[in-house]
Amino acid sequence: MLKDIILKLYNNNDLSDDELKLLIETDDLQAGELLRSLADEVRQKYYGKDVYLRGLIEISSFCKNDCLYCGIRRSNNNAQRYRLSHEQIMSCCENGYQLGFRTFVMQGGEDSFFTDDYLCAIIEEIKSKFPDCAVTLSLGERSEESYRRLKNAGADRYLLRHEAADNALYEKLHPSELSLENRKNCLFTLKKLGYQTGAGFMVGAPFQTTENIISDLRFLQKLQPEMIGIGPFVPHHDTPFHSEKQGSTQLTLRLLSILRLMFPKVLLPATTALGTVDPLGREKGLAAGCNVVMPNLSPVAVRKKYELYDNKICTGEEAAECRGCLERRVSSAGYNIVSKRGDNVDFNN
Ligand code: 5AD
Ligand code: FES
Repeated sequence: MLKDIILKLYNNNDLSDDELKLLIETDDLQAGELLRSLADEVRQKYYGKDVYLRGLIEISSFCKNDCLYCGIRRSNNNAQRYRLSHEQIMSCCENGYQLGFRTFVMQGGEDSFFTDDYLCAIIEEIKSKFPDCAVTLSLGERSEESYRRLKNAGADRYLLRHEAADNALYEKLHPSELSLENRKNCLFTLKKLGYQTGAGFMVGAPFQTTENIISDLRFLQKLQPEMIGIGPFVPHHDTPFHSEKQGSTQLTLRLLSILRLMFPKVLLPATTALGTVDPLGREKGLAAGCNVVMPNLSPVAVRKKYELYDNKICTGEEAAECRGCLERRVSSAGYNIVSKRGDNVDFNN
């Protein structure tokens, strides 16, 4: 029964909600292994054994939002706030380029200091100094005009997790001034403007049900993103969700494999959060269908301050250490890091 559902998905057939529910909730080990191995096969069909590197530069821990799960939410008075200067960001890129990175991801809280003019100048400089590199932004909700200007300055990709496609759950995770409708509009705008677009959600977020996860999968089918980011929810001690339980490694891995089968060509990272809840989480993610890793390129002096959740890994190491560490981890899982931009195979630029 489960096996038939898995084969149906592998053969590119859409599953019913009931079938998805069975697949998401199963703890059958044999079915889990079949799902994983087919996901790995599909990933290898399109991306071989290649694993792409994304150098994550955490440009600001200031955030005007107050998401209930996030450690840098504005009402966390214990959060240490910083922002990187233009020069600091450029030196992260120079360091990263030497280490073989060909994608730089600028991520930060929603910080109005980073105006379009300021960001465009940085993007233009990165693209002129490193023309063979892709620039990814992960800076939250902005206006269509802003997204257009950043794209025209040279940005290639944008990560904006939708967080929860079900309105009732979205509202439990976010303050009232944020809306799912706006979040979805931003994502469709990013697609329209020609960004390789990433959406995604946390696995095991407080109040999340299997039905909610199915809504997330259905939303992703509508959006057809080039990238999907999922990782387990991990509580942060200074947030309203401090006592909630963390998301499960097994469920995250199962969902990664389901995503690989539903979206065969998607760029799928084995996330830092997955490496945080399980010491071998990222290796297991690669074996379950992932093809991207995102080592930290931020200056060591600020790393502990970009604390979205507790016990985040890689906060004490230099960029070169993270790079080397991941190289070993990726090859131990049987894959190879490649020094390429790593665009979605459907995306010819
Ligand atoms: N646990 C796991 N992931 C988190 N994120 C934010 N807070 C947490 C947390 N407590 C994720 C969100 C966001 C991304 C940058 O980090 O999904 O989109
Ligand atoms: Fe950062 Fe291992 S990936 S230290």
